[in-house]
Amino acid sequence: MTPSHIAPRTTRPVVLITGASRGIGRAVAADLGPDHHLILAGRDERALDALAAELPSAETFVAELTDHAATAAAVAALDLGEGLSGVVHSAGILVTGSVEELDTADWERNFAVNVTAVSELTRVLLPALRAARGTVVAVNSGAGYNSKGKRSAYSASKFALRAWTDALRQEELPHGVRVSSVHPGRVDTDMQHELRAAESGDYESEKYLRPETVAAAISYVLRAPEEAVIATIDIRPRAIG
Ligand SMILES: NC(=O)c1ccc[n+]([C@@H]2O[C@H](COP(=O)([O-])OP(=O)(O)OC[C@H]3O[C@@H](n4cnc5c(N)ncnc54)[C@H](OP(=O)(O)O)[C@@H]3O)[C@@H](O)[C@H]2O)c1
Repeated sequence: MTPSHIAPRTTRPVVLITGASRGIGRAVAADLGPDHHLILAGRDERALDALAAELPSAETFVAELTDHAATAAAVAALDLGEGLSGVVHSAGILVTGSVEELDTADWERNFAVNVTAVSELTRVLLPALRAARGTVVAVNSGAGYNSKGKRSAYSASKFALRAWTDALRQEELPHGVRVSSVHPGRVDTDMQHELRAAESGDYESEKYLRPETVAAAISYVLRAPEEAVIATIDIRPRAIG
């Protein structure tokens, strides 16, 4: 039986959002919710169920994204008959520490979530994205352009993610899939709390971007007119740049 919060999706563009349980991904869901059918991806089933219940047309996609077999099985179970209008890759992790401090496990989990999982999920979604001439949005970071001490692993993964989006954009040109890289500065989310703790700095939420502001930029990318691709967006908090 179709749960009451799932409206017939054929009338709405379908977008899959990773990291939908929290932070930027959750804000993207709130922004797109009124006129999209959303596939809310994450690991926290209760949080996703609660969010889906608040939205007019949504379903949940519970997956640990580094488990590629489980993720592919979950994609195969989706009904993407009309194609997929977009995927927003917001799931990500922050690994901090000096090169001296980071071990191989740190490097591997950082790249597994921030790069490999993004590519693998996109790969299994490509047929549906091509069918709908969809849009891939990678939530990158200012760290995808600049690296700092104790940020080598995170920045390396975001540089790699930027390289991945550039390559995919070119590869998918003949298939009509457009690819965007969105680079926020500091955003007021759990990840920013983690970062400020690692930096031993005060948490000054009023100086950071709101997740809703980044979500609006992502929504703009997804809603760009058919003939355009917004290849990159660099969005920074006015107070601190
Ligand atoms: N916050 C910032 O200042 C900032 C700035 C620039 C770029 N970004 C980027 O923006 C994106 C979103 O960040 P955020 O601040 O919204 O982060 P967040 O609040 O920490 O949320 C991270 C999200 O990623 C999900 N996730 C992490 N590992 C996962 C895995 N292995 N499998 C499935 N889901 C996983 C989490 O799911 P669970 O709830 O299950 O843990 C959560 O939904 C990230 O790519 C981040 O690098 C953030």
